[in-house]
Amino acid sequence: MANGFTKDGAGNLDQTLRPQSWEEYIGQAKTKENLRILLTAARERGHSAEHILLYGPPGLGKTTLAHLIAKTLGTNMRITSGPAIERVGDLAAVLTNLSPGDVLFIDEIHRLSKTIEEVLYPAMESGVLDIIIGKGPSARTVQLDLPPFTLVAATTRISLLSSPLRSRFSGGTFRLDFYNEKEIESILIRSAKLLGVETDSDVFEDIAKRCRATPRVANYLLKRCRDMAQLENVPLSRDIVERTFGLLDVDKLGLNKSDRAVLEAIIGKFGGGPVGLNTIAAATGEEESTIEDVIEPYLIRLGLLERTPRGRVASANAYSHINDS
Ligand SMILES: Nc1ncnc2c1ncn2[C@@H]1O[C@H](COP(=O)(O)OP(=O)(O)O)[C@@H](O)[C@H]1O
Ligand SMILES: [Mg+2]
Repeated sequence: MANGFTKDGAGNLDQTLRPQSWEEYIGQAKTKENLRILLTAARERGHSAEHILLYGPPGLGKTTLAHLIAKTLGTNMRITSGPAIERVGDLAAVLTNLSPGDVLFIDEIHRLSKTIEEVLYPAMESGVLDIIIGKGPSARTVQLDLPPFTLVAATTRISLLSSPLRSRFSGGTFRLDFYNEKEIESILIRSAKLLGVETDSDVFEDIAKRCRATPRVANYLLKRCRDMAQLENVPLSRDIVERTFGLLDVDKLGLNKSDRAVLEAIIGKFGGGPVGLNTIAAATGEEESTIEDVIEPYLIRLGLLERTPRGRVASANAYSHINDS
């Protein structure tokens, strides 16, 4: 998009069901408390808050938190992302267009190039933008003062961030965790209300067990179950959940086809491992980054997969799960 800003690309579903307040934002208690103190103190001092880094697998609530941070500070949020900032000029345009106190949200910050990171450092640290004008021996640096701003950055891949960049998030670095079933149930109860879906607690429990402990997935599954109930003109029941999950290939543990393909490849083709990430990617046709960011974290959480120095290893539980299904 022109001027380096992007639309909130999370899509329609995320927009309608996105929590609008801290009360609606379920779970992540520690992170919420830390942010509350940081933001309230900054606001009381009349300063912009220090820069904040949020990380964790997709769908756990990073973008939602960024919105809540801006809301709490009582400022606008400008949204962009690593891939949208291709050239130094894009970043300069974004930074010089901020109003004092704005929150700048950079999603997927691990995808910023090194050159652009280096322009970001002084902006984060001293609120200045160094621009080089001209080329060769006549080139000179001009320093622009930027309005005070709070950078909130999100990433699924903290390991790809250089340590100088990481160290500049002086407000803190917060890892979002997977949600427990009770938390997911609370999220589903709210979503069902917003969607006008009437059902009972068994249905929420069933979905909560099989949504990869991820709010975005839980909401997605609720909507698909609602669709089937609507088409059949029946209430949303456990039977509907079972059949919807069957159609979507979501198994008892909440694994989808891609999750299972990874386990099946490690077990069936590589004797259970250890096997390297690139070999798994080639065998399954999944991108390495998808395996690392999306698939593995949940398999590891379930204890089905282990990361070892020599590669990925399937656990005994993975064998029994794959053989049962
Ligand atoms: N803590 C939470 N409480 C309630 N709903 C949540 C929470 N975290 C995420 N969600 C739901 O999941 C959706 C995806 O969250 P999002 O913030 O876009 O995740 P991320 O940016 O980490 O990929 C949100 O729109 C919201 O509906
Ligand atoms: Mg997001």
